[in-house]
Amino acid sequence: MSAGGQRMNRRMAILLCLAGLLGLVPGGGRAAEVGMARIMAATDLHYLSPSLYQGSDVFLAALRRGDGKLTQHSDVLLQALLDEVRHQQPDALILTGDLTFNGEKQSHLELAAALRAFAEETGIPVRVIPGNHDILIADAHAFFQGGWAGTATITEAEFGEIYAGLVGATPDAGYSTVLRANERAWVALLDVGVYTKDASIPFGVCREAHNRFLQQTLAEAEEAGALVVTCTHQNLLDQTSFNPESFGVWYPGVLHQLLRESPASARLNLSGHIHAQHIVTQDGLTDAATGALSVSPHLYAMVTVDPDGEVTYSAQPLCDAHLPEGFQAMSRQWFRSITIDKDRPQTAAFGVSAEEEEKLLDFAGDFNAAFFAGTLREEREALMASPGYAAWKRLTEVASFARYMDQLMDEAEQDCRYWENGPYLSPAQ
Ligand SMILES: [Fe+2]
Repeated sequence: MSAGGQRMNRRMAILLCLAGLLGLVPGGGRAAEVGMARIMAATDLHYLSPSLYQGSDVFLAALRRGDGKLTQHSDVLLQALLDEVRHQQPDALILTGDLTFNGEKQSHLELAAALRAFAEETGIPVRVIPGNHDILIADAHAFFQGGWAGTATITEAEFGEIYAGLVGATPDAGYSTVLRANERAWVALLDVGVYTKDASIPFGVCREAHNRFLQQTLAEAEEAGALVVTCTHQNLLDQTSFNPESFGVWYPGVLHQLLRESPASARLNLSGHIHAQHIVTQDGLTDAATGALSVSPHLYAMVTVDPDGEVTYSAQPLCDAHLPEGFQAMSRQWFRSITIDKDRPQTAAFGVSAEEEEKLLDFAGDFNAAFFAGTLREEREALMASPGYAAWKRLTEVASFARYMDQLMDEAEQDCRYWENGPYLSPAQ
């Protein structure tokens, strides 16, 4: 997509956000008239019940050593997401896993109640699938002043009970299900999680039952003249050359083939798990990993499916209007500072001057923020012109971060917030 096209998309996202607030964006009514489906998707909310951490110094200290999630405000993020959905009035809302911080039963109960009440109030269907932080999590903790203690997590069966009305189920394929956003746009949610006797494993596994489920769904969609967008928690394609196997779905061969070859496939999979906003396309199949809702800049995705088979994916931050004043700036600062704190021991070991070290750390903070926000391609030139980049280049031989940043910038060729298919994907052809 051209730079002009990107500018247009950003402008469209802002207009959609503003128009939604004014009640001008088509709700289900107008979308239904033109037959266009609008599906909102978010992932990795990592909701934590405030009752499990409020007033705990230990909790905040643990978060500061974490991966940049703003979990101390996950209740604010949940409400902001629901406000955004209320104003955008999509045909469906999908949450693709890691619904809770670490599988606490209390967090699940509160989240499910909020989602169910929202769906009943608005009439907007909501569907969820679990992620690797939702079921049988040994790290489910309650925090208090000076310490923490274990708290109840949930089993795979309890997940279905708690999220009744918000999940489907498929034999041997967990909570995999189909949501028909409208007559031309279906969403197939694939639960590829593996929940063993006492733990969830980080990667997904595609089993025979998933293949059968998708094959049948695509056949039915073809018959009905619908396009199918799929969802998984883990990535269906490797997002970067650095991604370990734990980020992906194992044994995806048949799934890939079905999605590439079926005329009913939108050839778009929505995922999450890596917390960064990133899109990759391989041999005509696209995996769009939406950035974690729990991490700056708190992105969600809007997928549109036109009656003529054109499909778009667009990721955008939660509207400032739905967040407390200064929230996004505060969150970015939180995320940058955690990156910098993590990198400080490494930079201190290089034996550079204090001034040089600050350049290194400033750059690492900006680089990581851009990568997670999905704007590395757009910010690449400015980053490479900064004094911090030159400082890292002087350390290429000894610093693994220097090689990591160069490789990710080399790979940053695709728009990581926006994707659209071509008219060749129309199921009518
Ligand atoms: Fe996550």
